[in-house]
Amino acid sequence: MDKLCALIVTFLIFGVPFLGTTVTALRSQDGLEEWGYVEVRPKAHLFWWLYKSPYRVEKPPKPWPIILWLQGGPGASGIGYGNFAEVGPLDVKLKPRNSTWLQKADLLFVDNPVGTGYSYVENTELLLKTDKEAATDLTTLLIKIFNKNKSLQKSPLYIVGESYGGKFAVTLGLSALKAIEAGKLLAKLGGVALGNSWISPEDFVLSWGPLLKDVSRLDNNGLRRSNRIARKIKKQLEDGLFVNATNSWKELESEIFLSSNGVDIYNFLLDSWGGDSVSLSGRGMSSLRGSGKKRYSKYLSSLRRGDEEIVKLLNGEIKEKLRIIPKNVTWQLQSDAVSDSFEVDFMKPRIDEVDELLAKGVNVSVYNGQLDVICATKGVEAWIRKLKWEGLPKFLRKERRALYCGSETKTKGFVKSYKNLRFYWIVGAGHMVPSDQPCMALTMAGAITHSPAPST
Ligand SMILES: *[C@@H]1O[C@H](CO)[C@@H](O)[C@H](O)[C@H]1NC(C)=O
Ligand SMILES: *[C@@H]1O[C@H](CO)[C@@H](O)[C@H](O)[C@H]1NC(C)=O
Ligand SMILES: *[C@@H]1O[C@H](CO)[C@@H](O)[C@H](O)[C@H]1NC(C)=O
Ligand SMILES: *[C@@H]1O[C@H](CO)[C@@H](O)[C@H](O)[C@H]1NC(C)=O
Ligand SMILES: *[C@@H]1O[C@H](CO)[C@@H](O)[C@H](O)[C@H]1NC(C)=O
Repeated sequence: MDKLCALIVTFLIFGVPFLGTTVTALRSQDGLEEWGYVEVRPKAHLFWWLYKSPYRVEKPPKPWPIILWLQGGPGASGIGYGNFAEVGPLDVKLKPRNSTWLQKADLLFVDNPVGTGYSYVENTELLLKTDKEAATDLTTLLIKIFNKNKSLQKSPLYIVGESYGGKFAVTLGLSALKAIEAGKLLAKLGGVALGNSWISPEDFVLSWGPLLKDVSRLDNNGLRRSNRIARKIKKQLEDGLFVNATNSWKELESEIFLSSNGVDIYNFLLDSWGGDSVSLSGRGMSSLRGSGKKRYSKYLSSLRRGDEEIVKLLNGEIKEKLRIIPKNVTWQLQSDAVSDSFEVDFMKPRIDEVDELLAKGVNVSVYNGQLDVICATKGVEAWIRKLKWEGLPKFLRKERRALYCGSETKTKGFVKSYKNLRFYWIVGAGHMVPSDQPCMALTMAGAITHSPAPST
């Protein structure tokens, strides 16, 4: 697939041999969208979708940025969720999103790792097991997309990860930087941004009990039970028992679910059934109580209500539009095969990788929704304090500044930065910051990417 970009045509059907190879990329009629597959390893195919911004300013004082969005899970689809539910140009009803990040940058979505969303493997043994392997596949993809295109190379690349995607973002940041330094990847790394990211599982599980106790979703009994499991996880991680830690993490989620009467792990102000779902109504809750502990194991997938709608869209209208998705690839919002395959890496921290990025002078932005449980701000602050980065003491002492959005007078967040580390506290948002605080998230995306777009 060396001739990837040269082979972009307006329409062709997947599988048709074309000059001895297979057409794997297409472009929309207006030229603003391109998408395709890259065979990153034999029989392993990553799907990408690039949106060029119609808001791009002429002769900008600063280069127009490109954002690579990485969803979590592992196994959750960015092409589907990040795109249609968070930051892309259209929502799940295919109505324009007025807070799309396209106003600030070009957007590149990738269903990563292979096996996620439209990405697929021809043999399940090709599914990945580690963050590092995923970073290698993604670097191969970036080389294919960027190296052929001088115009793209001028755009600084910002890697934005949400949830488990943050672990991919830091490992990819390092891997991409290495490829750039070796002259293998023709791109400029602008920075890495970590939105409610699973960087230090130990710090998160230790934060859940105390946080939920403080906001009345647990009492002392629930707190004691949660802390006991969290301490067991800490010990398992110290002993290198990573799969056991993943299993204990599921046990802890179930414990929290039962003791909190089903708090939404992505927003502690909500119940996980949102009061509107039949399957997890109050009655569902009591049957759960009886049926043991297995039930409430959610991956860090950023999944929410309205899931059926998005599954229908991505297997219907969007699949038709894209044309090159193989018939036998069924789009899933979250692939359990992919997350199961990551059972060893799942609980491993990536604090050292953040440190490495900081030491190399890469701009790292961390942003966190106030109401999240799974990647609670309390846990993020704990792992930040573990950084070995020389700028940390000064960063911690710095005062932060309040943020507002548009014409609103309500506090929407706080920010502080020192050298190449920046931290945003986003008020009134849970796990998915762009969905919960679209105006603030858009403004922040512009600031993180130093976008030449007019401020909103
Ligand atoms: C988008 O539209 C909503 C509702 O119509 C409005 O409240 C909001 O201010 C708009 N946001 C932006 C960024 O224009
Ligand atoms: C889809 O079918 C093709 C042709 O039969 C096969 O080579 C491929 O492995 C299948 N892909 C998946 C994801 O099942
Ligand atoms: C290169 O990227 C630019 C901007 O994203 C796009 O307009 C152009 O079509 C691309 N060229 C090729 C050959 O893919
Ligand atoms: C990194 O951040 C600093 C401070 O905000 C900024 O001056 C610089 O331009 C940023 N670099 C990149 C590549 O975005
Ligand atoms: C870890 O998990 C394995 C497999 O479930 C189990 O056999 C083993 O006893 C566990 N080890 C500890 C120390 O819990």
